[in-house]
Amino acid sequence: MNSPLRFDGRVVLVTGAGGGLGRAYALAFAERGALVVVNDLGGDFKGVGKGSAAADKVVEEIRRKGGKAVANYDSVEAGEKVVKTALDAFGRIDIVVNNAGILRDRSFARISDEDWDIIHRVHLRGSFQVTRAAWDHMKKQKFGRIIMTSSASGIYGNFGQANYSAAKLGLLGLANTLAIEGKKNNIHCNTIAPTAGSRMTQTVMPNDVLEALKPDYVAPLVLWLCHESCEENGGLFEVGAGWIGKLRWERSLGAIVRQKNQPMTPEAVKANWEKICDFENANKLRTIQESTGSLMEVLNKINSDGGVSTNHTSHAASSTATSGFDGAIGHKLPQFSSAYTELEAIMYALGVGASVKEPKDMKFIYEGDSDFSCLPTFGVIIAQKSIMGGGLAEIPGLSINLAKILHGEQYLELYKPLPRAGKLNCEAVVADILDKGSGLVILMDVYSYSGKELICYNQFSIFVVGSGGIGGKRKSDKVKEAVAVPNRRPDAVLTDTTSLNQAALYRLSGDWNPLHIDPNFASLGGFNRPILHGLCTFGFSARHVLQRFADNDVSRFKAIKVRFAKPVYPGQTLQTEMWKEGNRIHFQTKTQETGDIVISNAYVDLVPTSDVLAKTPSQGEDLQSTLVFEEIGRRLKDVGHEVVKKVKAVFEWHITKGGDTAAKWTIDLKNATGEVYQGPAKGSADVTITLSDEDFMDVVLGKLDPQKAFFSGRLKARGNIMLSQKLQMILKDYAKL
Ligand code: NAI
Repeated sequence: MNSPLRFDGRVVLVTGAGGGLGRAYALAFAERGALVVVNDLGGDFKGVGKGSAAADKVVEEIRRKGGKAVANYDSVEAGEKVVKTALDAFGRIDIVVNNAGILRDRSFARISDEDWDIIHRVHLRGSFQVTRAAWDHMKKQKFGRIIMTSSASGIYGNFGQANYSAAKLGLLGLANTLAIEGKKNNIHCNTIAPTAGSRMTQTVMPNDVLEALKPDYVAPLVLWLCHESCEENGGLFEVGAGWIGKLRWERSLGAIVRQKNQPMTPEAVKANWEKICDFENANKLRTIQESTGSLMEVLNKINSDGGVSTNHTSHAASSTATSGFDGAIGHKLPQFSSAYTELEAIMYALGVGASVKEPKDMKFIYEGDSDFSCLPTFGVIIAQKSIMGGGLAEIPGLSINLAKILHGEQYLELYKPLPRAGKLNCEAVVADILDKGSGLVILMDVYSYSGKELICYNQFSIFVVGSGGIGGKRKSDKVKEAVAVPNRRPDAVLTDTTSLNQAALYRLSGDWNPLHIDPNFASLGGFNRPILHGLCTFGFSARHVLQRFADNDVSRFKAIKVRFAKPVYPGQTLQTEMWKEGNRIHFQTKTQETGDIVISNAYVDLVPTSDVLAKTPSQGEDLQSTLVFEEIGRRLKDVGHEVVKKVKAVFEWHITKGGDTAAKWTIDLKNATGEVYQGPAKGSADVTITLSDEDFMDVVLGKLDPQKAFFSGRLKARGNIMLSQKLQMILKDYAKL
C-alpha cells in the first residue's frame, strides 16, 4: 500500500473556495493536515455582489471536522491581500490553487466590453495577482505548488464563451511559463480543465449528470499535483467523473515550401497543404527549444541544398514503433560529390586557426607556397554534406527529430594526403545503431573517393537525445572507439586563443547552423551566446598535434578520433594536452578560462617516419619529368664543373600530378661538379619551383615560357626567383638535344 499523501504543516490557499470545486479542494486538503485559507468573494456566478457567508461556511465545515482554516473575502484581483491572510494566519504560503471564477456567456457579437473585461480580470488577472503575491515566498523557501484552472472551452472553444475561452487558455500560457521559471526553485505549476457539477454548470447540465460529476472526483488530482513528492510540472490535464487524462501538443512533420534565394509563395503553400496538415508520424514537442530547433534544421536544409523538401519521414515508422533497425542499418544515402579548390582549403585552415603568425602554417593558407597542403582534418568537411544535407531524416525505419541530434564523436582516417583541390565522390552508409538508454547513437560511415581510389574514411557518431531505451544493442564492433588519455602529465601542451569571429569564419566551410552565429538561436538552444562548432575545436587540436609531433607534414597524418564533451565559446583559449605513445598521440582539449575538457578521449595516429620516406621514391615512377631529371644528372657528370661555376645555386623541384606533389627533385648547381637527386634539398634550396609534370615537360620542350607560366600561376617559385632564369638556360639546352 502506498502511504497516504499528507500535507501536514503546508499552507494552502484555495481561491473561490466558498462552493463548487474550490470547496471540495479546501476540505480535502484540510482533511490531510494542511492549513487552509478559504478565499471567496461571495458574489453570484456572474460576479455580481459579494459576501462573507460562502467562505465562512466552508471554514466552519473544516473546523468542525478538526481541521485548520481561515477565511478571506477579497476578490482575487487583490492578490496581495489574499496572500497576506495566509501569511498573517500561518506564517507562510506553500500551495496556491487558482480556482475562483465566474461566467458572462454571450454569443461573440453580443459581448460587451464589461463582459469581456470582468472575465479576464477575475480569471486571468486574478490568477496572476494571487500567484505573483505568493511567488517570492515560494522562491525563498524553495518549494511551491500552483494550480491554474483552465477549461475545455478554452482548449476546444465553445459557442457563447469567447471571453471565457480566451481567458481560460490564457491561463495555460501563464502556467507554461511559470513551470519553466519556477523549476529551479522547486515551484511546479500545472493546469487542470475540470468538468464537475456546480452552480456554474447548473444551467447547462441535467440534474442527474450534475450529481454524478461530483467535485470530489476532481479534487484528488489537485491534491496529487500539489504534493511535495509530485514531480509533474507544466502539465495539462482534463479531469472529471473519476477519469483523468493528460494533454500535449502534436505537430505535423510539415513541409518546406521555400527554396534558397527564391520568394516564398502562397501557391507553394497550397501545393504542400496536404503534407503540412498530415499528422502521420507527428512530433510531440515539449519545449520551445524543440520547436525552434527544428527551424534551424529547416534553415540548414534550405541553405545547403536549396531544394524544396519532400516530407522526408512521412513514410517512415515512428520512433515509438522502432524496435529493431533492420531497415536502417546498412542503408546507403544517395551518393554525393564534394568539389573544392585551394580557396576552400585555405578558408578551412583559417577557420581552424592556421595563421600567418606561424611561418610553418603558410603551407596551409598560401596557395603559392611550394609545399601547399590541405589540412588533413579538411577530410570531415568533404564528408559532412551527408549529415548537413538532411540525409539523416531519410533513413528508413527511423524517425529522427532533427532538433535533438548532437555530434557525439568523430573518426577520420586518410589513406593519402588530401589533394590540394579536387572533386571527391562520397558514399555514406549507416554502419550501425546503438541504444544508449538516454538516446540512440547512429554510426554514419562516409567513404570519399578520387576516381576509384579511396582517399579518406569518416565515422560520424550522431547522438539522438531521448530516442533510446527501446532494448537495442549497446555495443558494436563497427565503432571506432575513443581511448582514455594516459594517467600522467602531458608530454606537450599547445594553446591557441580563438577569435571572437572564429565561428563566423569556420561556418563558411559549410556548417551553416545559426546556433554558431545568431544570438537568438543560441539562446533558444539554451546558450548565453553563439557557440563554436565542435569540429572547429577538433581542427584546432589536430593542428596542434600535427605541428608538435609531425612538423606539419600532412603525409604523416593517418587518423584521428575525438569525443565532443562540452561547448566552447568563440574567444576562449583552447589548450591541447598531448601524450606521445609510439605513433599514437593521445590528446584532450580544454578551455583555459574554465578548465573544462571540451574534447576528451582523443588521439591522432601518425604514419611512422620510415614509411613516409619509403613511399617517396616510388612516387616519381610514372612521371615524364623523372626521365628528364635523370638525364640532367647524367649530363652534369660531364659538364657539371663548368655549369656550377656559372649558376652557383640549389634548385628544389616539386612536381605535381593531379594537384598533388608527386615527386621532389633537387638540382644542386652550387657544390663541386653538381648533383641531381630525388627528394628535397639536403641543405637549403635557393629557389623552390612547383609545377605540374605536364607543364615541366612543356617548359623543357620549349612549348611553355616559364616566365609566362609564373605570371599565370601555373609555375610557382619561392626563394630567389631571379635564379630561375639561369635554370631556364639549362633546360633549354636540354631541349635542344
Ligand atoms: P463555482 O461558481 O461553484 O465556484 C466559483 C467560486 O469562485 C464561487 O464560490 C465564487 O464566489 C468565487 N469567485 C468568483 N469570483 C471571485 C473573485 N473575484 N474572487 C474570489 N472568489 C470569486 O464554480 P465551479 O464550477 O466550482 O468552478 C471553479 C473553477 O473551475 C472556475 O474557475 C471555473 O471556471 C472552472 N471550471 C469549472 C467547470 C465545471 O464543470 N464546473 C468546467 C471548466 C472550468
